[in-house]
Amino acid sequence: MNKWNTRIFSVAFLAFSINMSLYSQNKSIYKDKTRSESERVSDLISKMTLAEKIGQMNQLNFDQINKDLEEKIKKGEIGSLLNVTNAEEVNQLQQVALQQSRLGIPLIIGRDVIHGLHTIFPIPLGQAASFDDELVKNAAHIAAVESREKGINWTFAPMLDISRDARWGRIAESLGEDPYLAGRLGAAMVRGFQGNKLSDATSIAACLKHFAGYGAAEGGRDYNSTNIPIHLLRNVYLEPFRKSVEAGAATVMTSFNDNDGIPASGNSFLLKQVLRKEWNFDGFVVSDWASMSEMISHGFAADRKEVASLSANAGLDMEMVSQTYIQNLEQLVKEGKVPVQAIDELVKNILRIKIRMGLFENPFAPTGPGKTYSQAHLNAAREAAVKSAVLLKNNNQLLPLDARKKIAVIGPMADAPHDQMGTWVFDGQKEYTVTPLKALQTEYKHINYVYEPALAFSRDKNKANFEKAVNTAKQADVVVVFLGEESILSGEAHSLSNINLIGVQSDLLAALKAANKPVVLVTMAGRPLTIERDLPNADAVLYNFHPGTMGGPAIWDLLFGKANPSGKLPVTFVREVGQIPMYYNHNNTGRPGPKNPMKLDDIPLEAKQSSLGNSSFYLDSGRDPLFPFGYGLSYSSFEYKDLKLSATKIKPGEKMKVSATLTNTGKYEGTEIAQLYVRDMVGSIARPVKELKGYQKISLKPGETKLVTFELSSDDLAFYGLDLVKKAESGMFNVWVGGSSDSGLKGSFSLEQ
Ligand code: BGC
Repeated sequence: MNKWNTRIFSVAFLAFSINMSLYSQNKSIYKDKTRSESERVSDLISKMTLAEKIGQMNQLNFDQINKDLEEKIKKGEIGSLLNVTNAEEVNQLQQVALQQSRLGIPLIIGRDVIHGLHTIFPIPLGQAASFDDELVKNAAHIAAVESREKGINWTFAPMLDISRDARWGRIAESLGEDPYLAGRLGAAMVRGFQGNKLSDATSIAACLKHFAGYGAAEGGRDYNSTNIPIHLLRNVYLEPFRKSVEAGAATVMTSFNDNDGIPASGNSFLLKQVLRKEWNFDGFVVSDWASMSEMISHGFAADRKEVASLSANAGLDMEMVSQTYIQNLEQLVKEGKVPVQAIDELVKNILRIKIRMGLFENPFAPTGPGKTYSQAHLNAAREAAVKSAVLLKNNNQLLPLDARKKIAVIGPMADAPHDQMGTWVFDGQKEYTVTPLKALQTEYKHINYVYEPALAFSRDKNKANFEKAVNTAKQADVVVVFLGEESILSGEAHSLSNINLIGVQSDLLAALKAANKPVVLVTMAGRPLTIERDLPNADAVLYNFHPGTMGGPAIWDLLFGKANPSGKLPVTFVREVGQIPMYYNHNNTGRPGPKNPMKLDDIPLEAKQSSLGNSSFYLDSGRDPLFPFGYGLSYSSFEYKDLKLSATKIKPGEKMKVSATLTNTGKYEGTEIAQLYVRDMVGSIARPVKELKGYQKISLKPGETKLVTFELSSDDLAFYGLDLVKKAESGMFNVWVGGSSDSGLKGSFSLEQ
């Protein structure tokens, strides 16, 4: 470049720079999407008044404010709304936020989209039975697509509370009893909701809840206190959260419970130490519904002002509905009880996510036709329902049914379009639900059937139609009985102390025996019910957790063998409610009970105190559950053979391979969920008798064999031991590969430092 050219270039560059800086003066840095996230956050926070900051920390329910909602948004008093579900309404409110508030900060619009918005998928517990990360991810993606069409950009899911108590109504919403399974599926859900980028047009922000320990509510009574000691908290209850934070979850919700006396919304150990320091979480934390102000009822805070101070100092960013922040934080800052720097940190967490979600560029719901209830969504819901069903019993290969046989369809859940969808359904319309009966009237029209509900709903105690039901059954070759729970019987604040089939449903099943026909019991329930007493009255049992919009056709697909059941239990099924809590990954105790203890009625009169052996079991219900975690049958059968370990010793940082051959020894093509379990034989604290460390879904044609290989690394063996540092401890390990937590080929290896 010669001298003149250089001059011309310099002048041009100068002009360009002046232009650019004028441009950026017009457009604030925080609105400029070419700037980095942290530049935008810093710029915005520097421009905000204290009141505006506190406004961002305030989340209100749409119904809570009726008249001056827009006024409040204009003044910057609201950071988020939940339960606005009308796209036009969302757009109008976002318009106000963007154009009429001083800084134009968009709202984040939340809703409980738990297992679908309109197209309803199986309840999360059902989805967990699929052990299928892709399926769960896709279900969440579809929920996100339908949500964005309504302007919803944030869901309060996944719920990652480990639950080992089927009395607790919210077990329905959980991913089961195991931290590995819940962690993997929780992470898959996060990926499904959030897509590749939070700012994509089909992504919504996920919210991991309830942090933490909520599923361990004493006695299964919702909202109850929990008493989870630190090792159990770290090794079990926090684990799914850790994995889902790692998957990039944008938000976390605190829980209602107090653990060992400390309510989660005032627990700085959880929020600061674990979430921020150890896991480097950079999203924001929202309280649960009034869980902050409820710290007064807990007896943890004297008044609303103290609530605000406790939560802000514990690191809770946004308050759901109870408004103690908006009413008290300014004063608390003045009094020096909450430093303004602390507020800045909390608000920055919220702004960071709003920026990451692309809300400053486009917070609006799209116009035009959407994909809600599209055929593709319905097909996916049907596939999910198929893969979430668990075959518990199939005597004499009664299933699959011969489609030429005449079927008696009995029971209150055969045509319960509302109840089939399960808990946490606000937007799913029952008109779209395809019940088993409706599926027979439409797509399975060629089936010859007779129908008698016998009971109007699951709690109905009127036995007047039992005789009619028996006569109907007599007309058929096989009886399919649909029993279970109405959706209102599980979910939040819907705990039960008796989890037998509700009402007189067991009596109905027993009465049908009189028809002397083979009986298939099909359930639709929100929890693992205690069905031991019902098993003798059914030749086959297909257990469905509430299967959602497309449950009906999915069930017939399975019953007629168009699909082969492949689900496995994500929770232990107890025999009696009194066995709770019972879960597969328990510690061994010093005196594990015998497999087949003497039955209560066989105990001789005046037997000596110690004659039954002094070990751990119930005199009346034994040592074992009815069905263990990981259990589930197929129309085919699978055989595991030739367990091989690539090493018998590994060192920290090393990996090994554990493999076995799997053969389909039955007549049908089928899918087996192969499971890998480990037991750390001796630890600095006692370790569980088994822990799930891997699973794979393997599809096999009849007679086909495949090699199943799991990789196991020393990191997979790590846990929080006596010193509360997460690491693998050297010593012996047992390892199993099999089709359930109570079976499998067994090997062993050691970890040596
Ligand atoms: C539940 C949360 C839910 C929130 C908002 C609370 O009662 O515990 O799981 O996300 O309400 O609806």
